[in-house]
Formats: sequence, C-alpha cells, structure tokens
Amino acid sequence: MKFQGMTIGVPKEIMQGERRVSSTPDTVKKMVGEGAVVLVEKGAGEGAFFADAAYREAGATIVDDVQDIFAKADVILKVKEPQFNTKVNRHEAEMVRDGQYLITFLHPAAPANHEAMKQLAATGVIGITLDGIPRISRAQSMDALTSMSTVAGYKGVLMAANRLAKFMPMVGTAVGMIKPANVLVIGTGVAGLQAVATAKRLGAVVTAVDIRPDAREQSKSLGAKDIDVGVPAEVAIGEGGYAQRLSEEWLNKEREALKPLVKAADIIILSALIPGKLAPILITEEMVASMAPGSSIVDISVDQGGNCELTEAGAVVEKHGVTIDGTKNIPGMMPTSSTWMFANNIYELLSFLARDGKIVLDRNDPIVEGTLTTIDKQIVHRGAREAMGL
Ligand code: NAI
Repeated sequence: MKFQGMTIGVPKEIMQGERRVSSTPDTVKKMVGEGAVVLVEKGAGEGAFFADAAYREAGATIVDDVQDIFAKADVILKVKEPQFNTKVNRHEAEMVRDGQYLITFLHPAAPANHEAMKQLAATGVIGITLDGIPRISRAQSMDALTSMSTVAGYKGVLMAANRLAKFMPMVGTAVGMIKPANVLVIGTGVAGLQAVATAKRLGAVVTAVDIRPDAREQSKSLGAKDIDVGVPAEVAIGEGGYAQRLSEEWLNKEREALKPLVKAADIIILSALIPGKLAPILITEEMVASMAPGSSIVDISVDQGGNCELTEAGAVVEKHGVTIDGTKNIPGMMPTSSTWMFANNIYELLSFLARDGKIVLDRNDPIVEGTLTTIDKQIVHRGAREAMGL
C-alpha cells in the first residue's frame, strides 16, 4: 500500500483570516485506505465547514496540540508557508523536524519567506512547494495554483458586481431598458478566463485583453469581445510560451490602447502576470480618474504587486470615486470549494511521490525538480536561489 506506515499531519492553518485546510475528510479517507495514520488538528477544517467528526469518521485521529502533530508526523500537509503560531507560542518553522517532509505553498522566492526557507534547510526539512508544479498535462491534477486562480477569477467578479450600483445584465423594465454593465478583463490566463466566464453568466458585456494570441482565442470562445492592444506575439511571448515582461515602451503603447476601454468600463478585473516576476502596471492613476464614479476594480494580481498603480495590498480603497480592491487571498474567501480543490491537488502530489510507505524523490522528474525547495540542509529551488543570490 502506497502510504503503509506513514504518519501524515494536518495542522490547522494559522495565517490571519485563513479558512482553508490542506485535507478534506474525503482525501483523509483515501490516505487512510492506503495505509496512512492521519493526525488532524482539532478544528482544522471548521473554517471550511469540515467538522472534526467527519475527519474522525474518515479514519483520522483528532489531536489537540499541534506540537504533537509536528513531533509525530513523517509528512506535514499545509496550505500556507510556516508562520508563528500564537496558540503555542512557537513558529511552525521551529516545530518541523530533521527529515520531515513539509508540503505546502512555500512561495520560496518571495523575500518575506527567505528567512523561513533558510531555517527549514538548516533544520533538515524536505520542503516541497505547490507553487512549483510544472504546467505539464501529467501534473494537472496537482496544480493548486490553477485551482486557486479559478476561485480568484470567479469570486473577483462577484466582489465587483456586489459593489456595483447597477445591474450586471440588461434588464427590461416598464420604464425602459437598463443597459448591461461593461466588464473589462485584463490578462486572460486561468483567473482571467474564469472572470470572463463568470461576468458573461451574469449578463455583462465583457471585453478582454491579453498579449498572448492563445489567451485571446480562449476568451473569444467564451464570448468576450477581444481587443488587440498592438503588442506583437514575438514581443509578448517568452520562455515556455508564457508572457514575458514588456519594455516600458511597449507597456506605454498598451496603456494607450487600454485608455478608452478603461474609461468605458464599469468593472475591471486585473489578472495580468508574468511568471516569477512583478506584475506589469497597466492602469495608471490618470486612467482610474477617467472612469465613471461608482466603477470598481478588483486587482487579482496583488500578490505580485498588482496591475493598477493605486492598488493597496490587502485593502479596499476609493480613489477618484472608483473602488480599487486589493484583497489578498481571495481563494480563502471561498474556503469550501478552494479546500476541496487544494486537498485533491495535494493528495495527488503526495500519491505521486509515495511508493510503499516512503517518499521517493526522483530529482530528474520535472515535478520533483520544480517543487523541491529544501533537502540535505540546502535550498535547491531554482527561483528561490536566484532571488536569494545563492
Ligand atoms: P499567468 O497567471 O502567468 O498570467 C495571466 C495572463 O496575463 C496570461 O494569459 C498572460 O499572457 C497575461 N499577461 C501578461 N502580461 C500582460 C500584459 N502586459 N497585458 C495583458 N495581459 C498580460 O497565466 P496562467 O493563468 O498561469 O496561464 C498561462 C497559460 O498556461 C494559460 O494559457 C493556461 O491555459 C496555461 N496553463 C496550462 C496548464 C497545464 O498545462 N497544466 C495549467 C495552467 C495553465
């Protein structure tokens, strides 16, 4: 059996406002069925509405003190990178042990996590990060970033629609026709496409912009009006077919092309990203000021700095009568669906790595190569090493 003799720990997430959890009763049941002992912290799933009783029924042992989980587990499954746990007054990076596997979103290249990565390496933890899953078909079921982008695109539109003082769809009334809202989606990767689909379902008129021809085709097929901002494919596309960072000159041209679209939009969803880089600024203050009062922007790219120059990370601000929403962790606002996807993604990754009760790391496999962050007391993740100048 795959997990025979393996002890798997599921701590409660401790980041402020985090309601997701790394495993559901369903994934616990599968792990137990394959021979694992699963230790779940008391109340770990309550934020996502998975009760202790359901985990117990699935075969888990509910544990009161998270320190016992860190002390006993061979593998720890989490959603977020290690944080300070105020309940037990210890940092999670101190509770992990030499030789223990930690699988979670480590975001190891982000400067805020560099110290924790050094600490994990020094302790001898084998850190595996879910944000490093490569975009290959074999790894699709493990791709938690894609799952979370799906949630962010959907929920981002609902947040904006909720704030709008108008209808989203066209509505016929006895006193005349109400026009549908104009929604502009900039960047139609996974999150942007989900935003296009959601805004269409709500009946808005949707305009989409991307610099990759493939992404433009996809948004068109979902019914969006596609606008060419004039960036040629050879300038837009970089390594692996992803978008690359544009020069300031091209960005200026794009901003010029965006100006009339921004002015006409009731809602703008921003999700233009360059893998591993800061998000490009596509909406300037002047462009925000051109929008009608009461309009609203949701900047889903906020974790990479945002696409609007007025976005404030983690805050909702009003500038020039326009609401700019820089909420971080939008997936955490839909904890049941995001947990369901995340738990299945992490289960698939663990299943892929485990053989006969042991984790086997083939360093030549792109899934291992992309996700392995710390091992043998070293930081081995390429992006993290680059960011840390190692
Ligand atoms: P992303 O999150 O890196 O970027 C979002 C979008 O922003 C991209 O479509 C990009 O072209 C666009 N963008 C970047 N700079 C821009 C600019 N200056 N102006 C306008 N748009 C700009 O993208 P994500 O969500 O990672 O998806 C990228 C591609 O990868 C998609 O085509 C998706 O279908 C594919 N994918 C494949 C997977 C697999 O094969 N397992 C899994 C997930 C995604």
